[in-house]
Amino acid sequence: MGMHTEDWIPREAERSLQRLLPRIEGVFAGDCREPEAWPPFRDRLQREWPALFRLLVRLYGQHYDFFYHLEQLLRMLACSWLARPSRLQALDARREKDPGWFKGRDVIGGVLYVDLFSDNLALLHEHIPYFKELDLSYLHLMPIFAVPHGENDGGYAVSSYRAVNPDLGTMEQLTELAGVLHAAGISLALDFVFNHTSDEHAWARRAQAGDPDFQAYYHCFPDRSVPDRYEAALREIFPTVRRGSFTWRPDMQRWVWTTFNSYQWDLNYANPAVFRAMAEEMLFLANAGVEVLRLDAVAFIWKTMGTDCENRPEAHLIIQAFNRLARIAAPALLFKSEAIVHPEAVLSYIDPGECQLSYNPQLMALLWEAVATRRVNLLSRAMSRRARLPEGCSWVNYLRCHDDIGWTFDDEDAWAVRLNPHDHRRFLNAFYSGRFEGSFARGVPFQFNPETGDMRISGTLASLAGLEQALERKDALLIEMAVRRVMLLRSIVLSAGGIPLIYLGDEWGMLNDYTYLSEPAKAHDSRWVHRSRRRWERRDLSSGETIEWRLFEGLRQLIQARKRLPALDNGGLVVFDTGNPHVFGFVRQGGGQRLLILANVTETPQAVPGASFQRFGATAGLHDHIGGDTLAPDEAPLLGPYQYRWLEALTPEGTSAVPRK
Ligand code: GLC
Ligand code: GLC
Repeated sequence: MGMHTEDWIPREAERSLQRLLPRIEGVFAGDCREPEAWPPFRDRLQREWPALFRLLVRLYGQHYDFFYHLEQLLRMLACSWLARPSRLQALDARREKDPGWFKGRDVIGGVLYVDLFSDNLALLHEHIPYFKELDLSYLHLMPIFAVPHGENDGGYAVSSYRAVNPDLGTMEQLTELAGVLHAAGISLALDFVFNHTSDEHAWARRAQAGDPDFQAYYHCFPDRSVPDRYEAALREIFPTVRRGSFTWRPDMQRWVWTTFNSYQWDLNYANPAVFRAMAEEMLFLANAGVEVLRLDAVAFIWKTMGTDCENRPEAHLIIQAFNRLARIAAPALLFKSEAIVHPEAVLSYIDPGECQLSYNPQLMALLWEAVATRRVNLLSRAMSRRARLPEGCSWVNYLRCHDDIGWTFDDEDAWAVRLNPHDHRRFLNAFYSGRFEGSFARGVPFQFNPETGDMRISGTLASLAGLEQALERKDALLIEMAVRRVMLLRSIVLSAGGIPLIYLGDEWGMLNDYTYLSEPAKAHDSRWVHRSRRRWERRDLSSGETIEWRLFEGLRQLIQARKRLPALDNGGLVVFDTGNPHVFGFVRQGGGQRLLILANVTETPQAVPGASFQRFGATAGLHDHIGGDTLAPDEAPLLGPYQYRWLEALTPEGTSAVPRK
């Protein structure tokens, strides 16, 4: 549609709002308990409406029953707002006054599987003091909703968004937990697995029973002709599970689109009924007290023939429309994008009007790249091109999550630093699966695709960083290096700008757990190697001697250091040329403070040429907030094996040197 053909939209938006407002007000009047809930809702609706209407027209304007869906959507929004607990409405008001609350340096995230961590939701309460020890203020619980027995992709095959998996607890317990966490200063994050449902979801069941309305919730095809045409351009996500992206269902005599596993049915967002139904589920989760929804597999939600069906423009429109709905009916809700795709495509989801938060897979992958190659060229180049975000948004920085690690860097960046991207990915896969002579890493291959040679890597932070191998060899020096490597990686994730996200278990150095190989529902999926049930109580934090204690305490100290330094509030980083290809450097500035972060990614000492520091403007020297020492202005710092320094530029008055604008 060209510009001119859309001229009618603002006029029509206004006209339809005037038509709908009295009917929606009726929803409130019918609920005599809360007529005072109407004005704030109406104000937000009026504010968001022009943009929301435009988005919906672009997505669904061609549907003959467009205005019917519109009215139903607004009624649903109104009911959802009326059902929103007053605690959350109060939170909405606070967040609207302070929309950037998540950008503070005091925001630290953790992520865990409830069953593996504490068995169930009720027992999770007991661990809140532990979360506080780590200063967590954001907690992502891995999927906890009803799922098929046996295989369910670690909870990512959801059978109901409104029922907690009975093994873990109840909806009431979840709501209660959200409140208790919030009172303890911890925001609850949950997944919104909205690209697909399980094949046991009520909608899928009705589709299986032959109901055409519900078959239209998914992508169903009577024969291979259309799937074949799509498949010509599709990437396979789980090629070792099943080739292709479609699954034959004999009960329906239909092929069903299944990007991931065969029991995960992709929803059809071209159908406005799906948009509406999922918007309702989203707001239901928000009303349960979820503050951050992790938008699972965002890249895949819209299909267009002849494309790879990833990152389509309409996928963005859907998320933007969801975002507007949240602004109206659950303003405190934030979205976190899970787009593990090309770095440019990752950025395309990050906007205050789309996803305020996003995983930072580029930084994650390139940190592992840097410690494998002992060089920072690729990392520096990529971060100088793609670290900044729009105002009002933030990265979620991590070293690993529950998924595999894929080498999602930009090929042009690789060529620019004289690396052949294809060969380099092969090298990294060999290195992290321990097949490269001299590698410290103990990773496990994930989803090797014999046709393309593609592969990804599973493993815990400690095992990937060399601790597992070092312990097996009982080699004190290797152990020392592994511990330092972990700390070095953490030092960057905690200072780069954004919310650091700790996969719980990694704080004390949990190693790979190979017992998944004897569980039939898990054996084929190596991601279970780093999703361990190993009991937390067994870790030994009893004395300052154990490795577990060193890793745990080391992390705690880093977190404390971060919290003391205003320059580490979220914001952009500026890559700093250290003049040494083995030392990563970047500048952080804010709150009257200017920091130079240096990180030696090798096990040998590295010098940073003094000339670099003049550029940094440290006229009176540098204070290292990690080591505690102060360097004279003409003193070029030496960095020991895997050493990192958080250096503050000092002026002659001893204060921070922040150049005037
Ligand atoms: C996301 C999840 C991953 C899951 C997939 C399908 O990428 O992180 O664990 O397998 O979506 O839901
Ligand atoms: C792909 C997807 C990502 C998912 C992962 C699971 O990388 O892009 O969404 O987490 O597969 O392995």
